[in-house]
Amino acid sequence: MGFGGGEHVAAQAEANPDVGYLACEVFVEGVAKCLTAVEEKGLSNVRFWTEDARQLIDRLPDSCLDRVFILFPDPWPKKKHHKRRIIQPDFLDSLARIMKPGAHLRFATDVRSYADEALQKILAHGQFDWLAEKADDWRRPPTDHVRTRYESKNLGDIAPVFYEFSLKSS
Ligand SMILES: C[S@@+](CC[C@H](N)C(=O)[O-])C[C@H]1O[C@@H](n2cnc3c(N)ncnc32)[C@H](O)[C@@H]1O
Repeated sequence: MGFGGGEHVAAQAEANPDVGYLACEVFVEGVAKCLTAVEEKGLSNVRFWTEDARQLIDRLPDSCLDRVFILFPDPWPKKKHHKRRIIQPDFLDSLARIMKPGAHLRFATDVRSYADEALQKILAHGQFDWLAEKADDWRRPPTDHVRTRYESKNLGDIAPVFYEFSLKSS
């Protein structure tokens, strides 16, 4: 969700040709970039949603996704704008509805206040287990991570953090 230039989704889709990807982005230049990459790589397992990702979520059936990636979402660094951040209780309710039990959610950011807030909100939600086992798990990019364009800009105030959660079975 919010794939930016699409390098991550294109690389994931290329590495996993038997997996279908729903790629959401509202930024038209980003969509064009990703479409170009998908075409150049000859991928047939990516579908695009070019409106607000939350509108797609509302149209998806229950328990249909194995994984969700929210990588370096808009950080809205000013305190008065924190409410615009995508990680909010109602958004997490929606994610929990469309994810399969045991499905993974990956969240990454390089903004300290967002890292703290997202972790607090996702754990407080109650339906997600944090999969970190060691103290530095979340400081290392997961082995299948593909560095994103936004990540490379190092605009945040901390080194990137990567949180991996699984949806509890209800
Ligand atoms: C900070 S950028 C990061 C892009 C990419 N994930 C990366 O790491 O390079 C956040 C992106 O999310 C997109 N975005 C923000 N809100 C969105 C929404 N509700 N639905 C879809 N895309 C959204 C923005 O257009 C922007 O391209």
